[in-house]
Amino acid sequence: MSSIEETQRELGITLDSERMPRHIAIIMDGNGRWATQRGLPRAMGHAQGYVTIQGIAQACSDLGVGALTLYAFSTENWRRPKDEVDALMQLIEYALRQEVPTLQKNKIRLQTIGRIWELPQSLQDTIAEITAETAQNSKLILNLAINYGGRREILDAVQEASRRVLDGEIDRDAITEEYFSNLMYTAGLPDPDLLIRTAGELRVSNYLLWQIAYSEIHVTSTLWPDFGDADLIKAIADYQSRIRKFGTVPPPVGS
Ligand code: FPP
Repeated sequence: MSSIEETQRELGITLDSERMPRHIAIIMDGNGRWATQRGLPRAMGHAQGYVTIQGIAQACSDLGVGALTLYAFSTENWRRPKDEVDALMQLIEYALRQEVPTLQKNKIRLQTIGRIWELPQSLQDTIAEITAETAQNSKLILNLAINYGGRREILDAVQEASRRVLDGEIDRDAITEEYFSNLMYTAGLPDPDLLIRTAGELRVSNYLLWQIAYSEIHVTSTLWPDFGDADLIKAIADYQSRIRKFGTVPPPVGS
């Protein structure tokens, strides 16, 4: 029995493998609070947050979730003290390098969304390298949002669409929802079925604004460094208990 099955048994929860979210997006909040509660520097909270990512990526892969998008650094996070920004950049680069064997062993494909071209050059190079090295992996897409902002993403897509119209490449009417989705950084990924936010705040913080139009939202007070398999299972069970209507009426009972 895998550890994720064991945890479901302990919790008395059996997830429906037919109704797994295809794509889970997470706002990993609470690293700073976790560290402060222990009298540690905030960077230690982020380091522990990396440990959580290892476990949750493994669990998503075991559960058959196809894509996991994690909010690692927002366009607003540059406003944090320089020490913390530097520590986060270094941690992300270190973690990516460290994880290559695991990504390969577990057939996890690394992707990123965000204005990657504005990141420190060495991090950009690491991302490019590992994205290429893992491009054939097909079990789970681990999609890191780095220097990501939802409004910025929409503006980038609007600018590209207007350029195509002005250059005569497409007609204005060609810009359908589907066409526009393919101009987003997440082109090719299904929209998240489930958005999880840790540490209790009830906001979306400029995350995947276009893509979460119909996502189910699960907020837990658990801080990200404490978020484990049991929390993930509860979030997915919560998701599976919802009736997704997509603007229509619920299906008749028994259908
Ligand atoms: C929010 O917590 C978290 C972040 C801004 C960064 C998330 C980064 C990681 C989990 C680190 C590693 C990332 C990778 C990809 C290896 P917060 O600092 O806002 O917490 P607070 O609200 O309690 O202060």
